[in-house]
Amino acid sequence: GPIPVHLDVNGQAHDLSLDPRTSLLDCLRERLGLTGTKKGCDQGACGACTVLLDGERVNSCLTPAVQCDGMEVVTIEAMASHELGARVQNAFLARDGFQCGYCTSGQICSIVAMLDEYRDGRPSAVTQDLAGPGPLTDAEIRERMAGNLCRCGAYNGIVAAIRDVA
Ligand code: FES
Repeated sequence: GPIPVHLDVNGQAHDLSLDPRTSLLDCLRERLGLTGTKKGCDQGACGACTVLLDGERVNSCLTPAVQCDGMEVVTIEAMASHELGARVQNAFLARDGFQCGYCTSGQICSIVAMLDEYRDGRPSAVTQDLAGPGPLTDAEIRERMAGNLCRCGAYNGIVAAIRDVA
């Protein structure tokens, strides 16, 4: 049967009663009406559904909403009033980081989480695998953004936008 779940979504508290099979994606879109988060593959392969869960990026299609009980969710709807999110959105506009726009909200949430990890220096896992200290390289950006697909192929604009903000 349904399970009680408390979520903080974009600073608003929600007390919900959910079927345990409901994904966080369906909860956001269908229960809370937050349709900025997109459903691409619904199987964890495309990144269109990326949101922040307690500050970490997750594929919301693979995340059962009941597992998010008591956690903070941030979606694209909050990014205009999020310091880093607003900068990333402006950079996307300046650099043409999209064509159809379907992947964009997931891209932006993923970028915000990635850049947040870099604020206090490189995460050690990144330093080991990639270029080492110094500014984010394009290769690093592409590696760290590999989970967010863009079928229009707007990758050059996306990488340029990330470089601007980084
Ligand atoms: Fe979640 Fe594609 S819709 S990864």
